[in-house]
Amino acid sequence: MQSTSTPLARTPSPADNSSAPADSNQRKVYVKTYGCQMNAYDSDRMADALAKDGYARTERPEDADLYLINTCHIREKAAEKVYSELGRLAKQKAKAEPGAKDFLVGITGCVAQAEGQEIFRRAPVVDLVVGPQTYHRLPEIVSEARAGRRVVDTDYAIEDKFAHLPRPDRKIVQARGVTAFLTVQEGCDKFCAFCVVPYTRGSEVSRPVAQIVAEAEALAEAGVRELTLLGQNVNAWHGVGADGRQWGLGELLFRLAEVPGIARLRYMTSHPRDMDDALIAAHRDLSQLMPYLHLPVQSGSDAILKAMNRQHKADDYLRLIDRIRAARPDIALSGDFIVGFPGETDADFEATLRLIENVGYAAAYSFKYSPRPGTPAAEATDLLPEEVKSERLLRLQALVTKQQYAFQQGCVGKTVDLLIEKPGRREGQIVGRSPWLQPTIVDAKAGAIGDIVKVRITASEANSLFAECIQG
Ligand code: SAH
Ligand code: SF4
Ligand code: F3S
Repeated sequence: MQSTSTPLARTPSPADNSSAPADSNQRKVYVKTYGCQMNAYDSDRMADALAKDGYARTERPEDADLYLINTCHIREKAAEKVYSELGRLAKQKAKAEPGAKDFLVGITGCVAQAEGQEIFRRAPVVDLVVGPQTYHRLPEIVSEARAGRRVVDTDYAIEDKFAHLPRPDRKIVQARGVTAFLTVQEGCDKFCAFCVVPYTRGSEVSRPVAQIVAEAEALAEAGVRELTLLGQNVNAWHGVGADGRQWGLGELLFRLAEVPGIARLRYMTSHPRDMDDALIAAHRDLSQLMPYLHLPVQSGSDAILKAMNRQHKADDYLRLIDRIRAARPDIALSGDFIVGFPGETDADFEATLRLIENVGYAAAYSFKYSPRPGTPAAEATDLLPEEVKSERLLRLQALVTKQQYAFQQGCVGKTVDLLIEKPGRREGQIVGRSPWLQPTIVDAKAGAIGDIVKVRITASEANSLFAECIQG
C-alpha cells in the first residue's frame, strides 16, 4: 500500500446514472480522477455543476459525450499518465463514425493548471483545459467548447469557487455512501523545495465557517455519518467563528460535531508546523474526532529537511508526536516520506529509518524523489541514481509494512465502534471502518449501512481487520 495510494479509501463511486430510465439524448459526462482526495472531491463537485447543465454522470467511459480527466502533477509518473490516456482517446475519436455525436475531452486539475495551453500543443484531441480555481465556470466553458472553440481557463478566480458551486445534491450524495469529503482549505504557502502544489493550487485560502457548516448539514441530511475535512494544509485553516472569535481547525471540528447526524470527523493533510494546541486538545476532548492523524515529515535528517525547506527539525516532529500521543494515546499515525532527495546520503537515509522506528506508524506512504519542473529542487545537480532510490524505497517500505502489521495486531481483542459502510466481497459479510481507518469485515447481521455498531476485533490480515458483533 505504500505507493501512490493515499491514506483514505475513496468514497464509493456515484451510482451509474446510465442505468437510469433511458433518455438517450441526455448528455453524459465521465470523470476520471487521479491524485489526492481533493481531486476526488473536486470531481464530484464538477459533476454536480454539470448536472445543473443537463449532464448526467456515467461510470461508462464509452457512453460519455464529455470525458474529463482530473489530473495530478505531483510526480512525473502521475503527469505522464495523462498523455498516455490522451493518446488512447485520440485513437477512439479518430475511429468514430463521421456524424457520430460530439465527443469532448477536457483536462482539469493540477496538470491543467501547470501546463495550460501547452496541453493543446501536445494533445490536439483536447477541447478544454480548466484549472482547479475555475470549476464553477465549467458549464460555460463546456458550452463554448461545444460551439467549436477550444478553451483554456487557468485564472485564479477572484470570486470564491466554492460559493459558486452548487450544494451537493441529496440523491447523488445518497448514492455516494455514508462517508464524504468536505474541502475546507485549499492551497499551500509552505513551498517545500520539491513540491508543485503551491504553484498548481495557489496560496492558502480558508473557506468561511458558514459555507462549511451549510455543506456539512446538507451532507448529513443526505445520510452522511462521517466527514473528512480536506485541505492541502488543512490545519492551516482559520476563520471567524459564530462567536466572532478567530477559530482554527480545532474550533471548527467542535462546531461540526454539533451537526445532527455527523457521528465521526477526520481531517487531512496536516503540516507539522500548523498543529496548534487547540487541535491537539480536540484529539483529547472531542469524542467524534477519530484517533487518526496523517502528519507527513518526509525525512528524518535535519540536513535534508533543511534542503527541502520543511521549516522544522526531526526532533521538533518527534516532540510534537509526543504531545499528540499524550493527548490521545491510541492515535494511529501515518506519514509521507520521500527517498532519494538530491544530496541524501546513507546517513541521512538511516536517520529517516530511525525516525520511523521512533514514531511507530500505523501506515506510511513513500515515494522516490521525482524532479518537478519549476520547483527549486529541480535545479539540483546532486541527483541520486535510480537504483539507490529504489533500494532505499524497498527498505523503508519493509519497515513501515512491519509497523503497520504490528499496529493492526495490537488492535486484536479491542472492542470498537464500527461505522458500517458497504457490503463485503463475500456474501453474508459487511465492511466498516474502525476508528483507526482500517477496513473491518464483520458478519452482515451486525447492522445496516450507516449504523455504528460495537464489535470486537478478532483478527488482522493484510490491510484489513476481522471482527465479531457484540450483543447489546
Ligand atoms: N500537503 C502535504 C502533502 C502534499 S503531496 C504535506 O505537506 O505533506 C503528497 C506527498 O507527495 C507529499 O507528502 C510527498 O511525500 C510526496 N511528494 C510531493 N512532491 C514530490 C516529488 N517531487 N517527488 C516525490 N514525492 C513527492
Ligand atoms: Fe507541498 Fe510542502 Fe505544501 Fe505539502 S506543505 S503541499 S509538501 S509545498
Ligand atoms: Fe496531485 Fe494536485 Fe493533489 S498535484 S496530489 S492532484 S493537489
